[in-house]
Amino acid sequence: MNPLIYFWVMLWAIPQYFQALAAMVHLSIIPESSLADVPVWICVSDLVPSQIVTLHASLTDEKGVRFEARAFYRANNAGEVDLKQAPALGGDYVGVWPMGLFSSLKPNKMHHRLMKRDVMGSPFHIQISLYDAYKVMPSSMDVPLKRCTVERWYVAPGVERFQIKTGRVRGALFVPPGPGPFPGVIDLFGGSGGLFEFRASLLASKGFVVLALAYFAYDDLPQTLTEVNLEYFEEASILLLKHPKVKGPGLGVIGLSKGAEIALAMATFLPQILATVCINGATSIINTSLHFRNVHIPAVPHAQEKILITETGLFASLHVMGDPQNERYQASAIPVEKAQGPVLFIVGEADEALKSMLYAEAAIARAKKYGKNNCTLLSYPGAGHLIEPPGSPLCYVSRMQQSSLPIQWGGKIEPHVKAQEHSWKEILKFLECNLGPLQNSNL
Ligand SMILES: *[C@@H]1O[C@H](CO)[C@@H](O)[C@H](O)[C@H]1NC(C)=O
Ligand SMILES: *[C@@H]1O[C@H](CO)[C@@H](O)[C@H](O)[C@H]1NC(C)=O
Repeated sequence: MNPLIYFWVMLWAIPQYFQALAAMVHLSIIPESSLADVPVWICVSDLVPSQIVTLHASLTDEKGVRFEARAFYRANNAGEVDLKQAPALGGDYVGVWPMGLFSSLKPNKMHHRLMKRDVMGSPFHIQISLYDAYKVMPSSMDVPLKRCTVERWYVAPGVERFQIKTGRVRGALFVPPGPGPFPGVIDLFGGSGGLFEFRASLLASKGFVVLALAYFAYDDLPQTLTEVNLEYFEEASILLLKHPKVKGPGLGVIGLSKGAEIALAMATFLPQILATVCINGATSIINTSLHFRNVHIPAVPHAQEKILITETGLFASLHVMGDPQNERYQASAIPVEKAQGPVLFIVGEADEALKSMLYAEAAIARAKKYGKNNCTLLSYPGAGHLIEPPGSPLCYVSRMQQSSLPIQWGGKIEPHVKAQEHSWKEILKFLECNLGPLQNSNL
């Protein structure tokens, strides 16, 4: 053959050959659309035996920040990479970890927390791309062998959201489809204020009527929290119990951080509360005093003299939030023994924002001393402060409006994410067991 013709034929044929190979590769992702707490199974087939590939995940959140993760895999002799069995050789994690790509998503902007804000309008779209060979930072010039977009929803079909602005109460109510009645739950987040709905909407997707309750820095509520007035939370509880789809006689409450402290106070003083989940919260009243009718618990102020800035310029609040073994904190301890219902304490042992383990232990010891034996502790080595429903990657550090420095929450990716998976199942079991069974439960 004329060498020139040979050259042109090869120039045409080689890309065709690789395109044909790429076209044969299968990337299967099951399910492609699901609730954010459902595990996803990724499997690649029809690769060349021992072929090295990169799986890359990316998502852009509602604030325009991009999150990415990648891992390298070697195909087996059958040309397959099944994430249930194949160990990652490197990248953002190593070893067998079917949900590793989702769990290790990291922001391209420093100190940014991945959080779904508009739960009703859209899911998170996570793009999974498969590349030949090692691709640490794929650019838009790199053509993937295959690409697929996964939808991760924070609300199930048929769940309705109602904006709540009734009396003093501000928040969002999530109601599952069907006639009900359903067990009711109040959902509280922490010291940054505002309204976070993603956990409430996920809980409603399991069959609870859930009120995501704001208590400051939202709508016409005060911008800062200067005291905790339980009458506000009582009004919210009465409002939720009056809802025709809420099954009485009582409610559950779940809170994180400052929200956990308030949840414990609600359990203690409000007769409506029958089951309580406290995630990494204090069990003494800290910084903002508590009022309820004739009850007044003074707050222990933040230990300002103990503000520590880490080498990397982060704010370590661990010591500011105090130590429950100290007498001052004992004087402001919540009298948890008065709570009628059981309390589940969920603790990350690597919490760097609060000595949450010591606080939970102090509350449980106090309850026992007074003969209350239904407070339980679930503690997780390696888990940090922000224990959320599964599907959220670890947030080790993020900015909060009230703080001029980013706050260090703590935790290591793998144990933290596994704690989220395990504790979520335990929370659902605990709420269902104490508030009554769910209809069409798909836990
Ligand atoms: C502590 O309480 C003061 C008001 O007494 C409030 O302005 C401040 O935001 C609180 N700090 C935190 C971190 O909650
Ligand atoms: C929890 O403990 C309290 C105090 O001992 C008790 O009155 C209550 O009946 C218990 N509740 C449950 C659901 O076991």
